[in-house]
Amino acid sequence: MSLLLSPATFRGLTLKNRIVLSPMCQYSAKGGLANDHHFAHLARFGLGGFGAVIVEATAVTPEGRVSYADLGLWSDDHIPPLARIVDFLRSQGAAAGIQIGHAGRKASSAVWWRGRFDETEAEKPLVGFEDWPTVGPSAIPHAQNSAEYKVPHALAPSEMDDIHAAFVAATQRADRAGFDLVEVHSAHGYLLHQFLSPIANQREDAFGGSLENRMRFPLSVAKAVRDAWPAEKPMFARISAQDGIDGGWTVADSIIYARALKDIGADLIDCSSGGFEGGKISVGPGYQVPLAQAVREGADLPTMAVGLITTPAEAEAVVRGGAADLVALGREALDDPNWPLHARLELGGSADPYAEWPRQAGFVVRHKDRALNLRSFEKD
Ligand SMILES: Cc1cc2nc3c(=O)[nH]c(=O)nc-3n(C[C@H](O)[C@H](O)[C@H](O)COP(=O)(O)O)c2cc1C
Repeated sequence: MSLLLSPATFRGLTLKNRIVLSPMCQYSAKGGLANDHHFAHLARFGLGGFGAVIVEATAVTPEGRVSYADLGLWSDDHIPPLARIVDFLRSQGAAAGIQIGHAGRKASSAVWWRGRFDETEAEKPLVGFEDWPTVGPSAIPHAQNSAEYKVPHALAPSEMDDIHAAFVAATQRADRAGFDLVEVHSAHGYLLHQFLSPIANQREDAFGGSLENRMRFPLSVAKAVRDAWPAEKPMFARISAQDGIDGGWTVADSIIYARALKDIGADLIDCSSGGFEGGKISVGPGYQVPLAQAVREGADLPTMAVGLITTPAEAEAVVRGGAADLVALGREALDDPNWPLHARLELGGSADPYAEWPRQAGFVVRHKDRALNLRSFEKD
């Protein structure tokens, strides 16, 4: 019996399996509004059998967008198109999650799939092009001498209060949209991670210096999100478990941060890494699994592993070996949105491996496999 394919419960939410669609920015929105692209992109993972689907980093303020094409939740107008996605995911038995965040000094950057600011003047109004000044814990840019990253304005405490309030308002809107789980984005060199890491935070007030001070703002945001989020719904937090830079954030720091997140009611730590210029992260199969394991053991709370986990056998080994409770897929899911359905055929052990397919498709896929002696009909 596969553990990967067995249910997992967090508070009042039971996921039908332990396979999660990792949040992935599409850089395809105008004015922060989800559109047909977001619906189609996310719906296929609901059809594909994912236990939970987490909507991309969604900005709590317009200035908190990584690019002008990010999703947002800074107004009530953003709720209906997200609610449509939630409804569909739930109709397929997938839990609907959303990652909320603020890009800080990495905001107002180029659309990733474009690679640079190459919008023509004619195209700019069509794609909703916008450019704005950025903010951060300190006036240190993400990259030196960069055409893309500006020198941020160092946030005053009153401005931090506004961002804090925006996280709360976005959380309430995510609840109204019907989401089952919320994930606080404190990874990848974005605002909350900028506060955590000495690489970006050189403040001399109560929010900089010691680890306790650097954690103060991210933890107060996470606590406010937890308090604004219904008690029966889980809250996850994504962290970069290490910067990969001398003098930067470390796994030991992550364990302390994860314990503090646990104390304020976080249900799971989603363990990624990196996000600052010059970070040395060696990438290979399952490269971040040891980080999820270290945080799980060190902080004694559930984790999610992510990062080049591509085969069902690898994912099964992650949960069975106790490195993590959930496995998130990003690029592999883009490559095969039906990954969980295929995993069920590959891992075996279920009475009817086609039962999880959408009703409209499962019986005919079975007929095809039988006719061609494929998968469960393979002859020895
Ligand atoms: C196109 C794309 C967009 C991404 N956007 C986000 C995002 O919005 N939030 C986030 O935390 N990570 C984001 N990531 C990182 C993924 O969630 C994931 O952690 C990473 O791709 C490693 O997993 P993988 O090897 O399975 O792709 C993005 C990755 C890709 C490929």
